[in-house]
Amino acid sequence: MKRLKTGVLISGKGTNLQALLDAAADAAYPAEIISVIANKAGAPGLEKARKAGVKAAFIDHTLYEEREDFERELDAKLREDGVEFVALAGFMRILTPWFVDKWKDRLINIHPSLLPAFKGVHTHERALESGVRVHGATVHYVRPEMDEGPIIGQAAVPVLAGDTKQTLADRVLVAEHKLYPACLKLVAENRARVTAGRVRLDRDSAPSTDAILSNPSSV
Ligand code: GRF
Repeated sequence: MKRLKTGVLISGKGTNLQALLDAAADAAYPAEIISVIANKAGAPGLEKARKAGVKAAFIDHTLYEEREDFERELDAKLREDGVEFVALAGFMRILTPWFVDKWKDRLINIHPSLLPAFKGVHTHERALESGVRVHGATVHYVRPEMDEGPIIGQAAVPVLAGDTKQTLADRVLVAEHKLYPACLKLVAENRARVTAGRVRLDRDSAPSTDAILSNPSSV
């Protein structure tokens, strides 16, 4: 089986990266993580990558005057490593249209809300303030506009009485760790393709795909 050579971009803890590394540790998983790049020195995710035997690099965005100069470096490193597909996992840097277009439909992100609700930051706080009963996470293809792009999968998480932004964030993160590997699997098996600006899921070969909303680990 040819596995999709995936690079992961991170800025911090890398718990979603860990979920992807764990999934990809199984030789039957259709993607392999071959490169991890952080834009923050000492991002704990870099150590997670090294522990899993994956190449880990740090590219300091503060050294570049223009965003695009940093991205050219990023792009060159990804290509040098032989990356075919990129997953953003807590990568806290807005990417320019130059980079996004270069990796169009080969670049995905996980966002901690049910998009299109709560784009941007502080999503858990805003979900609590707004009084929604259901919150969650979304994996989507990246487009130049922030938190836009064809949606691959979503995980719904109930908002409970007494939730704080931390308890809600913790519960969403658990769902993210199931959702992200499930979505990367769909993409790597070519079962989640972009057609006319939306993701078409190949339901014939993925009868359980409908369950992704409530139970992403079932895919
Ligand atoms: C996650 O909530 C992710 O959705 C958001 O940033 C957080 C990253 O967490 N984009 P981690 O670094 O994967 O632990």
